[in-house]
Amino acid sequence: MHHFTYQNGSLYCEGVNLEELASETGTPAYVYSASTISENFRRLDSALSPLNHEICYAAKANSNLSILHLLAKQGAGFDIVSSGELFRVKKAGGSPAHCTFAGVGKTAEEIRYALESDIYSFNVESEEELLRIDSIAGSCGKKAPVAIRVNPDVDAQTHKFISTGKSKNKFGIGIDRAEAVYSDAASLKNVSLRGIQTHIGSQILTTAPFAEAAAKLAPLVKKLKDRHGLEFFSFGGGLGIIYSDALESASPSWWETRSPEDKRITPEDYAAAIIPHLAPLEMRILFEPGRFLVGNAGVLLSEVQYIKKTPAKHFTVVDAAMNDLIRPALYEGYHQIVPLRESQATPTLMDVVGPVCESGDFFAQDRELPLLAPGDRIALMSAGAYGFAMSSQYNSRPLLPEVLVKGTRAELARTRQSYDDLIAGEKIVELE
Ligand code: LLP
Repeated sequence: MHHFTYQNGSLYCEGVNLEELASETGTPAYVYSASTISENFRRLDSALSPLNHEICYAAKANSNLSILHLLAKQGAGFDIVSSGELFRVKKAGGSPAHCTFAGVGKTAEEIRYALESDIYSFNVESEEELLRIDSIAGSCGKKAPVAIRVNPDVDAQTHKFISTGKSKNKFGIGIDRAEAVYSDAASLKNVSLRGIQTHIGSQILTTAPFAEAAAKLAPLVKKLKDRHGLEFFSFGGGLGIIYSDALESASPSWWETRSPEDKRITPEDYAAAIIPHLAPLEMRILFEPGRFLVGNAGVLLSEVQYIKKTPAKHFTVVDAAMNDLIRPALYEGYHQIVPLRESQATPTLMDVVGPVCESGDFFAQDRELPLLAPGDRIALMSAGAYGFAMSSQYNSRPLLPEVLVKGTRAELARTRQSYDDLIAGEKIVELE
């Protein structure tokens, strides 16, 4: 569910006309609906309410300060993967005491910063990392709270780049070795075993992989809880969202028309599949959703620049590019494309492409869309997660503005970069 709908023929975000907003901010630009994020948070929170739980938003999905602030106000904790994200969470008013720190490559500096900030837990990905954390904690005179990430060897049935719970992936410690690693960890002087963690992948659209991971891990978690006094089990993120019919999915009636085989997961389905395995553990269950909270809450606005016809193709060239939203290029990710002014124009088979000098710079290939003309504006739907967060300045294109909307109000949460921003920190070095 989200708040992007056509009203009198124009696309709105909540009460804001996006055509008018695009005229003010220029294009390309990211726009986020604050109400969608809050409602997604409340819906998931309520579905999980039978558990003693905490939602730790995966900041990597979208780490704009305003979004972190909004979620902190809702009561979210944070799943972070770098000291940069920890810095952002602190700046946004989030509490380090509600942060878990994941990632396979934490540097000594990052570990020190997290220890000084008194985070809730390090989610440890290897024995080597455990030893490093123990030694740094010792030198800082601290006891580091840790959880070990256990890889359950479950197929998340998602894109191979975002599947993390198989034994061939680089993440976590194999389920068969977990008990031994916990016993070794228990003998370390400067760590305290606080929890256990898992995360099987992202954009998961069926309940089966979650249920399988929960069922497979529950006996181990129970044993380790009893043996080491663990207080939490973090079940990771991964709850998928609708990309293909993103606009239609704003309407509750659209959901009612879907059959169960149609692979559409709701927070309620997710909760029903895992609660029977997790509730009997009688411990704090953490969740690390990223995409579910913010994905459908954001769009990328763009303007058509040219129509280029070749014997093979009809190209609609827009002003956004792969550097602004890399998901189609990187994962062949699908983003629905809709015109900001509702259109009765003839559906035409086209490629929607950006200006970057790579054939991978496309948003849609061979897709039937209403015929567009230069000057028309479009929205790339479901761009709130892993959109701006994965953007770059490739081709020396300044980073985009981000606008937060609530009701009829729209505020810039980040300004468009200038050419001076593009070269900030650089200098001409002449060594001859
Ligand atoms: N927890 C851990 C340890 C993670 O690695 C991730 C995501 C999450 C939680 C949040 O997962 P989510 O609820 O958002 O699925 N850039 C890719 C997605 C990468 C996900 C990386 N890890 C994309 O655009 O599809």
